[in-house]
Amino acid sequence: MFGDKKHFSRAIAGALVALSIIALVLNLVRVEDVTLPPTVKYGMVFDAGSSHTSLFVYEWDSDKENSTGVVSQTLACDVQGQGISSYASDPPKAGDSLRECLEHGLEAVPSAEQRNVPAYLGATAGMRLLREQNSSAAAQVLAEVTKTMQEYPVAFKGAQILTGEEEAAYGWITTNYLLDSFTKYSPRAHTWLRPEAANILGALDLGGASTQISFMPEGPGVNWNESSTFTLYGFSYSIYTHSYLCYGQNEMLRRLAKELIAESPSSTRVAHPCYPKGYTETISLSSFRTSPCTERSDPRLALPDSNVTLEGRGDASGCLAAVKKLFNFSACGQRQDCTFDGVYQPPVRGQFIAFSAFYYNFKFLNLTKGQSLATVRDIIQHFCTRSWEDLSASYPRENPARLPKYCANANYILTLLLDAYKFNETSWNNIFFQMKAGSADFGWTLGYMLNLTNMIPAEAPAWVKGQVPSLWAAAVTFIVLTLTLGLAALLLSFWL
Ligand SMILES: *[C@@H]1O[C@H](CO)[C@@H](O)[C@H](O)[C@H]1NC(C)=O
Ligand SMILES: *[C@@H]1O[C@H](CO)[C@@H](O)[C@H](O)[C@H]1NC(C)=O
Ligand SMILES: *[C@@H]1O[C@H](CO)[C@@H](O)[C@H](O)[C@H]1NC(C)=O
Ligand SMILES: *[C@@H]1O[C@H](CO)[C@@H](O)[C@H](O)[C@H]1NC(C)=O
Ligand SMILES: *[C@@H]1O[C@H](CO)[C@@H](O)[C@H](O)[C@H]1NC(C)=O
Repeated sequence: MFGDKKHFSRAIAGALVALSIIALVLNLVRVEDVTLPPTVKYGMVFDAGSSHTSLFVYEWDSDKENSTGVVSQTLACDVQGQGISSYASDPPKAGDSLRECLEHGLEAVPSAEQRNVPAYLGATAGMRLLREQNSSAAAQVLAEVTKTMQEYPVAFKGAQILTGEEEAAYGWITTNYLLDSFTKYSPRAHTWLRPEAANILGALDLGGASTQISFMPEGPGVNWNESSTFTLYGFSYSIYTHSYLCYGQNEMLRRLAKELIAESPSSTRVAHPCYPKGYTETISLSSFRTSPCTERSDPRLALPDSNVTLEGRGDASGCLAAVKKLFNFSACGQRQDCTFDGVYQPPVRGQFIAFSAFYYNFKFLNLTKGQSLATVRDIIQHFCTRSWEDLSASYPRENPARLPKYCANANYILTLLLDAYKFNETSWNNIFFQMKAGSADFGWTLGYMLNLTNMIPAEAPAWVKGQVPSLWAAAVTFIVLTLTLGLAALLLSFWL
Protein backbone atom coordinates (compact mmCIF):
# COMPACT_ATOMS: atom_id res chain seq x y z
CA MET A 1 0.00 0.00 0.00
CA PHE A 2 2.58 2.44 1.20
CA GLY A 3 4.93 1.54 -1.64
CA ASP A 4 2.15 1.91 -4.22
CA LYS A 5 1.43 5.44 -3.09
CA LYS A 6 5.11 6.24 -3.28
CA HIS A 7 5.34 4.85 -6.82
CA PHE A 8 2.26 6.77 -7.83
CA SER A 9 3.60 10.12 -6.61
CA ARG A 10 6.94 9.37 -8.28
CA ALA A 11 5.18 8.68 -11.54
CA ILE A 12 3.22 11.96 -11.32
CA ALA A 13 6.32 13.98 -10.47
CA GLY A 14 8.29 12.26 -13.23
CA ALA A 15 5.58 12.99 -15.79
CA LEU A 16 5.48 16.59 -14.69
CA VAL A 17 9.24 16.92 -15.18
CA ALA A 18 9.11 15.31 -18.60
CA LEU A 19 6.20 17.47 -19.74
CA SER A 20 7.90 20.61 -18.46
CA ILE A 21 11.08 19.82 -20.36
CA ILE A 22 9.10 19.22 -23.55
CA ALA A 23 7.14 22.45 -23.04
CA LEU A 24 10.32 24.39 -22.33
CA VAL A 25 12.04 23.08 -25.45
CA LEU A 26 8.97 23.76 -27.60
CA ASN A 27 8.66 27.24 -26.17
CA LEU A 28 12.29 28.14 -26.67
CA VAL A 29 12.02 26.97 -30.25
CA ARG A 30 8.98 29.17 -30.75
CA VAL A 31 10.69 32.18 -29.14
CA GLU A 32 13.63 31.70 -31.45
CA ASP A 33 11.39 31.31 -34.47
CA VAL A 34 9.82 34.71 -33.98
CA THR A 35 12.64 36.75 -32.52
CA LEU A 36 15.61 35.34 -34.43
CA PRO A 37 15.47 37.36 -37.63
CA PRO A 38 15.29 41.01 -36.58
CA THR A 39 16.96 41.99 -39.83
CA VAL A 40 19.74 44.51 -39.57
CA LYS A 41 19.18 47.57 -41.72
CA TYR A 42 21.77 50.02 -42.97
CA GLY A 43 21.99 53.63 -44.10
CA MET A 44 24.78 55.75 -45.64
CA VAL A 45 25.38 59.47 -45.45
CA PHE A 46 28.18 61.50 -47.01
CA ASP A 47 29.02 64.64 -45.06
CA ALA A 48 30.40 66.88 -47.81
CA GLY A 49 32.02 69.66 -45.79
CA SER A 50 33.99 72.67 -46.97
CA SER A 51 37.42 71.18 -46.37
CA HIS A 52 36.75 67.45 -46.59
CA THR A 53 34.12 64.75 -47.08
CA SER A 54 33.37 61.80 -44.80
CA LEU A 55 31.12 58.80 -45.27
CA PHE A 56 29.16 57.36 -42.35
CA VAL A 57 27.44 53.95 -42.43
CA TYR A 58 24.81 53.29 -39.78
CA GLU A 59 22.97 50.13 -38.76
CA TRP A 60 19.96 49.25 -36.65
CA ASP A 61 17.56 46.39 -35.96
CA SER A 62 14.49 46.68 -38.14
CA ASP A 63 12.14 45.79 -35.29
CA LYS A 64 13.40 48.61 -33.11
CA GLU A 65 13.51 51.37 -35.62
CA ASN A 66 11.16 53.71 -33.79
CA SER A 67 13.03 53.64 -30.48
CA THR A 68 15.60 56.16 -29.34
CA GLY A 69 19.28 55.30 -29.26
CA VAL A 70 19.22 52.07 -31.29
CA VAL A 71 21.13 53.21 -34.37
CA SER A 72 24.85 52.56 -34.23
CA GLN A 73 27.69 53.70 -36.44
CA THR A 74 29.19 50.86 -38.45
CA LEU A 75 31.87 52.75 -40.30
CA ALA A 76 33.34 56.20 -40.90
CA CYS A 77 35.49 56.76 -43.98
CA ASP A 78 37.49 59.89 -44.75
CA VAL A 79 37.49 60.81 -48.42
CA GLN A 80 40.99 61.64 -49.66
CA GLY A 81 41.58 65.20 -50.79
CA GLN A 82 39.63 68.42 -50.43
CA GLY A 83 35.91 69.10 -50.08
CA ILE A 84 33.68 68.67 -53.15
CA SER A 85 33.39 72.45 -53.63
CA SER A 86 37.12 72.51 -54.47
CA TYR A 87 36.35 70.62 -57.72
CA ALA A 88 34.27 73.50 -59.13
CA SER A 89 36.53 73.75 -62.18
CA ASP A 90 36.59 69.96 -62.74
CA PRO A 91 33.30 68.55 -61.38
CA PRO A 92 33.80 64.88 -62.46
CA LYS A 93 36.69 64.71 -59.96
CA ALA A 94 34.19 65.48 -57.18
CA GLY A 95 32.33 62.28 -58.09
CA ASP A 96 35.52 60.23 -58.41
CA SER A 97 36.71 61.37 -55.01
CA LEU A 98 33.85 59.42 -53.40
CA ARG A 99 34.56 56.02 -54.98
CA GLU A 100 37.05 54.68 -52.49
CA CYS A 101 34.77 55.32 -49.51
CA LEU A 102 31.71 54.03 -51.37
CA GLU A 103 33.49 50.73 -51.96
CA HIS A 104 34.67 50.64 -48.39
CA GLY A 105 31.14 51.41 -47.16
CA LEU A 106 29.63 48.63 -49.28
CA GLU A 107 32.03 46.10 -47.79
CA ALA A 108 30.41 46.79 -44.43
CA VAL A 109 26.96 45.76 -45.74
CA PRO A 110 25.98 42.15 -46.59
CA SER A 111 25.56 41.97 -50.37
CA ALA A 112 21.91 40.89 -50.14
CA GLU A 113 21.13 44.10 -48.23
CA GLN A 114 23.09 46.58 -50.36
CA ARG A 115 20.31 47.56 -52.75
CA ASN A 116 18.08 48.47 -49.81
CA VAL A 117 20.60 50.82 -48.23
CA PRO A 118 19.33 54.42 -48.40
CA ALA A 119 22.31 56.56 -49.43
CA TYR A 120 22.44 60.34 -49.09
CA LEU A 121 24.92 63.11 -49.68
CA GLY A 122 24.51 66.34 -47.77
CA ALA A 123 26.74 69.30 -48.53
CA THR A 124 27.24 72.19 -46.15
CA ALA A 125 28.83 75.63 -46.05
CA GLY A 126 31.54 75.06 -48.68
CA MET A 127 28.85 74.33 -51.27
CA ARG A 128 26.63 77.14 -49.94
CA LEU A 129 29.50 79.51 -50.67
CA LEU A 130 30.17 78.01 -54.10
CA ARG A 131 26.48 78.31 -54.99
CA GLU A 132 26.58 81.96 -53.95
CA GLN A 133 29.59 82.51 -56.16
CA ASN A 134 28.72 80.36 -59.18
CA SER A 135 25.44 78.48 -58.97
CA SER A 136 25.97 76.55 -62.20
CA ALA A 137 29.31 75.23 -60.94
CA ALA A 138 27.63 74.12 -57.69
CA ALA A 139 24.87 72.38 -59.66
CA GLN A 140 27.43 70.57 -61.81
CA VAL A 141 29.31 69.31 -58.76
CA LEU A 142 26.07 67.95 -57.29
CA ALA A 143 25.20 66.34 -60.62
CA GLU A 144 28.57 64.58 -60.72
CA VAL A 145 28.39 63.21 -57.18
CA THR A 146 24.86 62.03 -57.96
CA LYS A 147 26.06 60.26 -61.10
CA THR A 148 28.82 58.48 -59.19
CA MET A 149 26.60 57.37 -56.31
CA GLN A 150 24.01 56.01 -58.78
CA GLU A 151 26.64 53.67 -60.24
CA TYR A 152 26.80 51.74 -56.97
CA PRO A 153 24.27 49.13 -55.80
CA VAL A 154 22.64 51.30 -53.13
CA ALA A 155 19.24 53.01 -52.89
CA PHE A 156 20.46 56.51 -53.76
CA LYS A 157 18.14 59.10 -52.19
CA GLY A 158 19.67 62.39 -53.23
CA ALA A 159 22.55 64.82 -53.01
CA GLN A 160 21.66 68.24 -51.70
CA ILE A 161 22.96 71.37 -50.04
CA LEU A 162 21.59 71.70 -46.51
CA THR A 163 20.62 75.12 -45.21
CA GLY A 164 22.56 76.32 -42.17
CA GLU A 165 19.44 75.94 -40.05
CA GLU A 166 18.93 72.33 -41.16
CA GLU A 167 22.57 71.60 -40.39
CA ALA A 168 22.12 73.06 -36.90
CA ALA A 169 18.83 71.26 -36.26
CA TYR A 170 20.14 67.86 -37.40
CA GLY A 171 23.21 68.32 -35.18
CA TRP A 172 20.85 68.92 -32.26
CA ILE A 173 18.78 65.82 -33.14
CA THR A 174 21.91 63.64 -33.43
CA THR A 175 23.23 64.84 -30.09
CA ASN A 176 20.03 64.16 -28.18
CA TYR A 177 19.36 60.90 -30.00
CA LEU A 178 22.81 59.53 -29.18
CA LEU A 179 22.60 60.62 -25.55
CA ASP A 180 19.11 59.15 -25.25
CA SER A 181 17.66 62.40 -23.98
CA PHE A 182 14.50 62.23 -26.07
CA THR A 183 11.59 60.32 -24.65
CA LYS A 184 12.08 56.73 -23.67
CA TYR A 185 9.64 53.87 -23.83
CA SER A 186 8.90 52.52 -20.38
CA PRO A 187 7.94 48.82 -20.61
CA ARG A 188 6.62 48.96 -17.04
CA ALA A 189 4.32 51.92 -17.64
CA HIS A 190 3.57 50.76 -21.22
CA THR A 191 4.03 54.32 -22.39
CA TRP A 192 6.49 56.84 -23.72
CA LEU A 193 7.78 59.01 -20.90
CA ARG A 194 7.87 62.76 -21.19
CA PRO A 195 11.49 63.89 -21.41
CA GLU A 196 12.94 66.10 -18.70
CA ALA A 197 13.67 69.52 -20.18
CA ALA A 198 16.90 69.52 -18.17
CA ASN A 199 18.17 66.47 -20.06
CA ILE A 200 17.91 68.06 -23.48
CA LEU A 201 21.35 69.17 -24.64
CA GLY A 202 22.39 71.96 -26.94
CA ALA A 203 24.77 71.44 -29.87
CA LEU A 204 27.76 73.53 -30.91
CA ASP A 205 29.34 72.73 -34.27
CA LEU A 206 32.38 74.42 -35.81
CA GLY A 207 33.21 73.60 -39.41
CA GLY A 208 35.63 75.03 -41.95
CA ALA A 209 33.23 77.58 -43.43
CA SER A 210 30.37 77.95 -40.95
CA THR A 211 29.48 77.43 -37.31
CA GLN A 212 26.15 76.36 -35.79
CA ILE A 213 24.45 76.70 -32.43
CA SER A 214 21.19 74.99 -31.45
CA PHE A 215 19.49 74.62 -28.08
CA MET A 216 16.13 74.62 -26.33
CA PRO A 217 15.76 78.05 -24.71
CA GLU A 218 13.95 78.80 -21.48
CA GLY A 219 10.23 79.47 -21.64
CA PRO A 220 7.92 79.93 -24.59
CA GLY A 221 6.80 82.94 -26.51
CA VAL A 222 9.96 84.90 -27.24
CA ASN A 223 9.87 86.46 -30.68
CA TRP A 224 12.20 84.04 -32.38
CA ASN A 225 12.60 84.40 -36.06
CA GLU A 226 14.91 81.46 -36.04
CA SER A 227 13.11 78.91 -33.99
CA SER A 228 11.92 75.56 -35.22
CA THR A 229 9.42 73.30 -33.60
CA PHE A 230 9.68 69.55 -34.02
CA THR A 231 7.36 66.88 -32.79
CA LEU A 232 9.35 63.78 -31.90
CA TYR A 233 7.89 60.66 -30.26
CA GLY A 234 4.73 62.60 -29.46
CA PHE A 235 6.39 65.55 -27.73
CA SER A 236 7.12 68.91 -29.23
CA TYR A 237 10.39 70.78 -28.91
CA SER A 238 10.96 74.43 -29.74
CA ILE A 239 14.59 74.97 -30.43
CA TYR A 240 16.63 78.01 -31.37
CA THR A 241 19.13 77.44 -34.19
CA HIS A 242 21.54 79.70 -35.97
CA SER A 243 24.26 79.11 -38.53
CA TYR A 244 26.92 81.74 -39.20
CA LEU A 245 28.30 81.53 -42.73
CA CYS A 246 31.96 82.66 -43.01
CA TYR A 247 32.48 81.96 -39.30
CA GLY A 248 33.95 78.49 -39.76
CA GLN A 249 37.60 78.29 -38.76
CA ASN A 250 39.19 78.31 -42.23
CA GLU A 251 37.16 81.27 -43.45
CA MET A 252 37.86 83.01 -40.13
CA LEU A 253 41.62 82.56 -40.61
CA ARG A 254 41.42 84.01 -44.13
CA ARG A 255 39.34 86.96 -42.95
CA LEU A 256 41.87 87.52 -40.17
CA ALA A 257 44.77 87.51 -42.64
CA LYS A 258 42.92 89.90 -44.94
CA GLU A 259 42.18 92.26 -42.06
CA LEU A 260 45.80 92.25 -40.84
CA ILE A 261 47.06 92.92 -44.37
CA ALA A 262 44.53 95.71 -44.87
CA GLU A 263 45.71 97.35 -41.65
CA SER A 264 49.26 97.74 -42.95
CA PRO A 265 48.64 98.88 -46.52
CA SER A 266 51.29 98.35 -49.17
CA SER A 267 53.61 96.34 -46.92
CA THR A 268 54.80 93.03 -48.29
CA ARG A 269 55.65 91.75 -44.80
CA VAL A 270 52.85 91.86 -42.23
CA ALA A 271 52.96 90.86 -38.54
CA HIS A 272 50.53 88.09 -37.54
CA PRO A 273 49.97 88.05 -33.76
CA CYS A 274 48.48 84.52 -33.72
CA TYR A 275 51.19 82.68 -35.64
CA PRO A 276 54.20 81.44 -33.66
CA LYS A 277 57.40 83.43 -33.65
CA GLY A 278 59.70 82.17 -36.40
CA TYR A 279 56.83 81.01 -38.64
CA THR A 280 56.09 82.73 -41.95
CA GLU A 281 53.39 82.16 -44.55
CA THR A 282 53.20 83.78 -47.96
CA ILE A 283 49.78 84.33 -49.46
CA SER A 284 48.56 85.83 -52.68
CA LEU A 285 46.01 88.60 -52.35
CA SER A 286 44.16 87.08 -55.31
CA SER A 287 43.31 84.07 -53.11
CA PHE A 288 40.86 86.29 -51.21
CA ARG A 289 38.70 86.41 -54.32
CA THR A 290 38.01 82.67 -54.24
CA SER A 291 35.50 82.96 -51.39
CA PRO A 292 32.51 85.26 -50.91
CA CYS A 293 33.69 85.65 -47.28
CA THR A 294 36.77 87.61 -48.35
CA GLU A 295 36.10 88.69 -51.93
CA ARG A 296 34.65 92.12 -51.16
CA SER A 297 37.20 94.62 -52.39
CA ASP A 298 38.83 96.66 -49.68
CA PRO A 299 40.31 100.04 -50.67
CA ARG A 300 43.09 99.42 -48.17
CA LEU A 301 44.33 96.43 -50.21
CA ALA A 302 46.28 98.50 -52.69
CA LEU A 303 48.11 95.77 -54.57
CA PRO A 304 45.44 93.39 -55.84
CA ASP A 305 47.57 90.49 -57.07
CA SER A 306 50.74 90.77 -55.06
CA ASN A 307 52.05 88.33 -52.47
CA VAL A 308 52.29 89.20 -48.81
CA THR A 309 54.33 87.36 -46.19
CA LEU A 310 52.73 86.94 -42.79
CA GLU A 311 55.27 86.83 -39.94
CA GLY A 312 54.34 85.15 -36.68
CA ARG A 313 54.64 87.21 -33.50
CA GLY A 314 53.37 84.75 -30.88
CA ASP A 315 51.46 87.56 -29.19
CA ALA A 316 48.58 86.02 -27.20
CA SER A 317 46.72 89.19 -26.25
CA GLY A 318 47.32 90.75 -29.67
CA CYS A 319 45.83 87.60 -31.22
CA LEU A 320 42.71 87.75 -29.06
CA ALA A 321 42.24 91.44 -29.92
CA ALA A 322 42.67 90.80 -33.65
CA VAL A 323 40.21 87.90 -33.59
CA LYS A 324 37.59 90.04 -31.80
CA LYS A 325 37.68 92.53 -34.66
CA LEU A 326 36.18 89.88 -36.95
CA PHE A 327 32.88 90.26 -35.10
CA ASN A 328 30.71 93.35 -35.21
CA PHE A 329 29.67 93.46 -31.57
CA SER A 330 28.66 97.11 -31.74
CA ALA A 331 25.82 96.16 -34.11
CA CYS A 332 24.09 94.69 -31.01
CA GLY A 333 24.24 97.93 -29.03
CA GLN A 334 23.34 97.19 -25.40
CA ARG A 335 21.09 94.25 -26.25
CA GLN A 336 21.86 91.14 -24.23
CA ASP A 337 19.77 88.88 -26.50
CA CYS A 338 22.15 89.50 -29.39
CA THR A 339 25.40 87.80 -30.43
CA PHE A 340 27.01 90.05 -33.09
CA ASP A 341 26.07 91.55 -36.45
CA GLY A 342 22.67 92.15 -34.82
CA VAL A 343 21.78 88.43 -34.66
CA TYR A 344 19.15 87.55 -32.06
CA GLN A 345 19.86 84.73 -29.58
CA PRO A 346 18.03 83.92 -26.35
CA PRO A 347 20.26 83.22 -23.30
CA VAL A 348 22.06 79.89 -23.52
CA ARG A 349 20.51 77.23 -21.35
CA GLY A 350 21.48 73.77 -20.10
CA GLN A 351 24.36 71.56 -21.16
CA PHE A 352 26.03 71.64 -24.57
CA ILE A 353 28.09 69.23 -26.60
CA ALA A 354 30.79 71.10 -28.57
CA PHE A 355 31.99 68.90 -31.45
CA SER A 356 33.92 68.98 -34.76
CA ALA A 357 36.55 71.72 -34.77
CA PHE A 358 35.56 72.84 -31.26
CA TYR A 359 36.65 69.39 -30.18
CA TYR A 360 39.68 68.89 -32.46
CA ASN A 361 41.36 72.14 -31.41
CA PHE A 362 40.68 71.66 -27.72
CA LYS A 363 41.73 68.02 -27.92
CA PHE A 364 45.13 68.97 -29.29
CA LEU A 365 45.54 71.56 -26.52
CA ASN A 366 44.45 69.03 -23.86
CA LEU A 367 41.46 71.19 -22.94
CA THR A 368 38.71 68.57 -23.15
CA LYS A 369 38.91 67.42 -19.54
CA GLY A 370 36.44 69.89 -18.07
CA GLN A 371 39.01 72.51 -17.02
CA SER A 372 37.72 75.81 -15.64
CA LEU A 373 37.59 78.83 -17.90
CA ALA A 374 40.50 80.44 -16.05
CA THR A 375 42.69 77.37 -16.63
CA VAL A 376 41.68 77.19 -20.29
CA ARG A 377 42.60 80.85 -20.79
CA ASP A 378 46.00 80.33 -19.14
CA ILE A 379 46.82 77.28 -21.23
CA ILE A 380 45.84 79.01 -24.49
CA GLN A 381 47.79 82.12 -23.57
CA HIS A 382 50.88 80.08 -22.82
CA PHE A 383 50.54 78.00 -25.98
CA CYS A 384 50.39 81.18 -28.09
CA THR A 385 53.80 82.32 -26.86
CA ARG A 386 55.59 79.14 -27.95
CA SER A 387 57.96 79.60 -30.89
CA TRP A 388 57.71 77.72 -34.17
CA GLU A 389 61.00 76.03 -33.44
CA ASP A 390 59.66 74.76 -30.11
CA LEU A 391 56.31 73.67 -31.57
CA SER A 392 57.66 71.85 -34.60
CA ALA A 393 60.19 70.02 -32.43
CA SER A 394 57.61 69.15 -29.75
CA TYR A 395 54.90 67.91 -32.15
CA PRO A 396 56.76 66.33 -35.09
CA ARG A 397 53.78 64.16 -35.96
CA GLU A 398 51.25 66.96 -36.09
CA ASN A 399 50.23 68.17 -39.55
CA PRO A 400 52.59 71.15 -40.14
CA ALA A 401 49.82 73.07 -41.89
CA ARG A 402 47.66 72.84 -38.77
CA LEU A 403 50.20 73.34 -36.03
CA PRO A 404 50.72 77.12 -36.45
CA LYS A 405 46.94 77.70 -36.38
CA TYR A 406 45.91 76.35 -32.99
CA CYS A 407 46.54 79.67 -31.24
CA ALA A 408 44.23 81.57 -33.59
CA ASN A 409 41.61 78.81 -33.54
CA ALA A 410 41.59 78.61 -29.74
CA ASN A 411 41.24 82.37 -29.34
CA TYR A 412 38.51 82.29 -31.93
CA ILE A 413 36.63 79.59 -30.01
CA LEU A 414 36.89 81.61 -26.79
CA THR A 415 35.59 84.75 -28.47
CA LEU A 416 32.72 82.93 -30.14
CA LEU A 417 31.61 81.13 -26.99
CA LEU A 418 32.13 83.96 -24.48
CA ASP A 419 31.66 87.27 -26.30
CA ALA A 420 29.18 86.18 -28.95
CA TYR A 421 27.15 83.35 -27.38
CA LYS A 422 27.67 84.78 -23.85
CA PHE A 423 28.70 81.73 -21.91
CA ASN A 424 30.28 82.88 -18.62
CA GLU A 425 32.59 81.41 -15.96
CA THR A 426 29.70 79.33 -14.61
CA SER A 427 27.93 78.22 -17.78
CA TRP A 428 31.35 77.39 -19.29
CA ASN A 429 31.26 74.26 -17.11
CA ASN A 430 28.15 73.11 -19.02
CA ILE A 431 30.07 72.81 -22.29
CA PHE A 432 31.38 69.32 -23.02
CA PHE A 433 34.03 69.15 -25.72
CA GLN A 434 33.32 65.72 -27.10
CA MET A 435 33.31 64.02 -30.52
CA LYS A 436 31.71 60.66 -29.84
CA ALA A 437 28.94 58.97 -27.88
CA GLY A 438 29.93 55.32 -27.75
CA SER A 439 31.15 54.49 -31.25
CA ALA A 440 29.05 57.13 -33.03
CA ASP A 441 30.24 60.61 -33.99
CA PHE A 442 28.37 63.78 -33.18
CA GLY A 443 27.47 65.81 -36.26
CA TRP A 444 24.46 66.42 -38.46
CA THR A 445 24.56 63.20 -40.53
CA LEU A 446 22.74 60.82 -38.19
CA GLY A 447 19.92 63.29 -37.48
CA TYR A 448 19.59 63.87 -41.23
CA MET A 449 19.27 60.16 -41.96
CA LEU A 450 16.87 59.58 -39.07
CA ASN A 451 14.62 62.31 -40.35
CA LEU A 452 14.75 61.38 -44.02
CA THR A 453 14.04 57.71 -43.29
CA ASN A 454 11.15 58.73 -40.98
CA MET A 455 12.79 56.88 -38.12
CA ILE A 456 11.82 59.52 -35.61
CA PRO A 457 8.05 59.29 -35.59
CA ALA A 458 6.13 62.43 -34.70
CA GLU A 459 3.64 60.35 -32.78
CA ALA A 460 4.50 58.09 -29.91
CA PRO A 461 4.79 54.82 -31.84
CA ALA A 462 2.37 51.99 -31.16
CA TRP A 463 4.37 49.44 -29.21
CA VAL A 464 3.10 46.36 -30.99
CA LYS A 465 5.77 43.84 -30.29
CA GLY A 466 6.68 44.93 -26.78
CA GLN A 467 3.94 42.80 -25.21
CA VAL A 468 4.78 39.56 -26.90
CA PRO A 469 8.23 38.81 -25.48
CA SER A 470 6.95 39.49 -21.97
CA LEU A 471 4.20 36.89 -22.49
CA TRP A 472 6.82 34.37 -23.52
CA ALA A 473 8.92 35.33 -20.57
CA ALA A 474 5.92 34.62 -18.32
CA ALA A 475 5.31 31.25 -20.01
CA VAL A 476 8.94 30.22 -19.70
CA THR A 477 9.03 31.31 -16.06
CA PHE A 478 5.89 29.25 -15.36
CA ILE A 479 7.33 26.16 -17.00
CA VAL A 480 10.67 26.45 -15.23
CA LEU A 481 8.80 26.84 -11.95
CA THR A 482 6.72 23.69 -12.66
CA LEU A 483 9.87 21.83 -13.60
CA THR A 484 11.56 22.81 -10.35
CA LEU A 485 8.53 21.83 -8.30
CA GLY A 486 8.25 18.52 -10.15
CA LEU A 487 11.92 17.72 -9.54
CA ALA A 488 11.59 18.69 -5.90
CA ALA A 489 8.55 16.42 -5.50
CA LEU A 490 10.41 13.58 -7.19
CA LEU A 491 13.46 13.94 -4.95
CA LEU A 492 11.27 14.26 -1.90
CA SER A 493 9.38 11.05 -2.80
CA PHE A 494 12.66 9.10 -2.89
CA TRP A 495 13.79 10.63 0.33
CA LEU A 496 10.61 9.93 2.31
C1 LIG B 1 7.30 52.91 -36.61
O1 LIG B 1 6.34 53.94 -36.61
C2 LIG B 1 5.60 54.03 -37.81
C3 LIG B 1 4.69 55.22 -37.72
O2 LIG B 1 4.35 55.51 -36.40
C4 LIG B 1 4.82 52.73 -38.03
O3 LIG B 1 4.13 52.78 -39.25
C5 LIG B 1 5.82 51.58 -38.05
O4 LIG B 1 5.12 50.35 -38.16
C6 LIG B 1 6.66 51.55 -36.79
N1 LIG B 1 7.67 50.52 -36.91
C7 LIG B 1 7.95 49.67 -35.90
C8 LIG B 1 9.00 48.66 -36.19
O5 LIG B 1 7.41 49.73 -34.81
C1 LIG C 1 30.97 79.15 -63.23
O1 LIG C 1 31.37 77.81 -63.39
C2 LIG C 1 31.28 77.32 -64.71
C3 LIG C 1 31.53 75.83 -64.68
O2 LIG C 1 32.64 75.51 -63.93
C4 LIG C 1 32.31 78.08 -65.55
O3 LIG C 1 32.25 77.61 -66.88
C5 LIG C 1 31.96 79.56 -65.50
O4 LIG C 1 32.96 80.28 -66.17
C6 LIG C 1 31.89 80.05 -64.06
N1 LIG C 1 31.35 81.38 -64.03
C7 LIG C 1 31.93 82.35 -63.36
C8 LIG C 1 31.25 83.67 -63.40
O5 LIG C 1 32.97 82.21 -62.75
C1 LIG D 1 28.82 97.24 -37.41
O1 LIG D 1 27.42 97.32 -37.55
C2 LIG D 1 26.91 98.63 -37.52
C3 LIG D 1 25.39 98.54 -37.52
O2 LIG D 1 24.94 97.61 -38.47
C4 LIG D 1 27.44 99.41 -38.71
O3 LIG D 1 26.96 100.73 -38.71
C5 LIG D 1 28.97 99.42 -38.66
O4 LIG D 1 29.49 100.02 -39.80
C6 LIG D 1 29.50 98.01 -38.55
N1 LIG D 1 30.93 98.06 -38.30
C7 LIG D 1 31.81 97.41 -39.03
C8 LIG D 1 33.22 97.53 -38.64
O5 LIG D 1 31.47 96.73 -39.99
C1 LIG E 1 48.87 67.23 -24.09
O1 LIG E 1 49.17 66.19 -23.19
C2 LIG E 1 50.16 65.27 -23.69
C3 LIG E 1 50.27 64.13 -22.70
O2 LIG E 1 50.29 64.60 -21.40
C4 LIG E 1 51.48 66.01 -23.89
O3 LIG E 1 52.46 65.13 -24.39
C5 LIG E 1 51.25 67.14 -24.89
O4 LIG E 1 52.43 67.90 -25.03
C6 LIG E 1 50.11 68.05 -24.44
N1 LIG E 1 49.80 68.98 -25.52
C7 LIG E 1 49.84 70.29 -25.39
C8 LIG E 1 49.52 71.09 -26.60
O5 LIG E 1 50.13 70.86 -24.36
C1 LIG F 1 12.13 66.15 -41.19
O1 LIG F 1 11.43 65.77 -42.32
C2 LIG F 1 10.14 66.28 -42.44
C3 LIG F 1 9.53 65.74 -43.69
O2 LIG F 1 9.57 64.34 -43.66
C4 LIG F 1 10.18 67.79 -42.43
O3 LIG F 1 8.87 68.32 -42.50
C5 LIG F 1 10.87 68.27 -41.18
O4 LIG F 1 10.98 69.66 -41.18
C6 LIG F 1 12.22 67.63 -41.07
N1 LIG F 1 12.85 67.97 -39.82
C7 LIG F 1 13.89 68.76 -39.75
C8 LIG F 1 14.52 68.93 -38.43
O5 LIG F 1 14.34 69.32 -40.72
